[in-house]
Amino acid sequence: MDYVILDGQILDRNKAKVDIEDRGYQFGDGIYEVIRVYNSTFFTADEHLTRLFQSAEKIGMTLPYTLEELKNLLASLVKRNNINDGTIYLQFSRGVAARQHHYPDKDVKPAFTAYTKEIERPKDKLKKGVHAKLVEDVRWLRCDIKSLNLLGNIMAKQEASEAGCFEAILHRGSTVTEGSSSNMFIVKDGIIKTHPATNLILNGITRRVIMDICKEQNITIKEEEFNIEELLAADEIFLASTTSEVMPIVKVIGESFETEEPGEITRKLQAGFEKKIALQCGE
Ligand code: PDD
Repeated sequence: MDYVILDGQILDRNKAKVDIEDRGYQFGDGIYEVIRVYNSTFFTADEHLTRLFQSAEKIGMTLPYTLEELKNLLASLVKRNNINDGTIYLQFSRGVAARQHHYPDKDVKPAFTAYTKEIERPKDKLKKGVHAKLVEDVRWLRCDIKSLNLLGNIMAKQEASEAGCFEAILHRGSTVTEGSSSNMFIVKDGIIKTHPATNLILNGITRRVIMDICKEQNITIKEEEFNIEELLAADEIFLASTTSEVMPIVKVIGESFETEEPGEITRKLQAGFEKKIALQCGE
């Protein structure tokens, strides 16, 4: 049986019902996280949950849990569902209230839901790399918040997907920002560049793990804007996210960037990432 969390209770998925006036459902008024589970153990859970609390604060929401309480509850669900390799998705909406745009009274409690999914690591793609498509970034100006509002992201992903690509590389004008559900990196002459953690991107947890690996391995990484021209002239391109890990991009369709196989630095970071997983989750 598949169990989920609804407002702090673990219950049978079929019994979990959400009110149609939930503000997450009506306005996308809420926040979420996706945390990876390897070997039945959370990977970078504290970092994800810290970002969740930060997202909540940025939209004026107070979560009715401490980080530890939340983590314990999520761990119970992972255990209950017997997840080996997979993810846990959790979201807090601002709660259930009669539809009105401004925030409801303070006594309306955020609505908390979570579920798990068993998924394999994308080993074949990690080895061979994926294709990507350039798509204009039409999202709002608070991409630093991990908000439930993902229309701009999903429309870009759809466009990439229809073109047979794994990811959309988003750009605002000539500046590359990030992927539709990942952060974006280029390598040129051994130096990595990724967009700085401003309001224009989500400061990914995988991105931060990569920065740690770079520090440990003396690889230069610059949090610096880069443009489409630099992207297409790069030696290597890769993306990073909780579910995609360190994913090589071997072709930008319709453009001049194409490589035979994933590059050397990308490979090094993948190896470093494996070690981080082994260290935390014992695989
Ligand atoms: N997406 N940028 C965007 C827009 C994202 O949606 C994500 C993650 C990232 C990478 O963040 P992290 O390394 O913390 O996963 C960057 C998740 C996985 C999702 O929406 O499914």
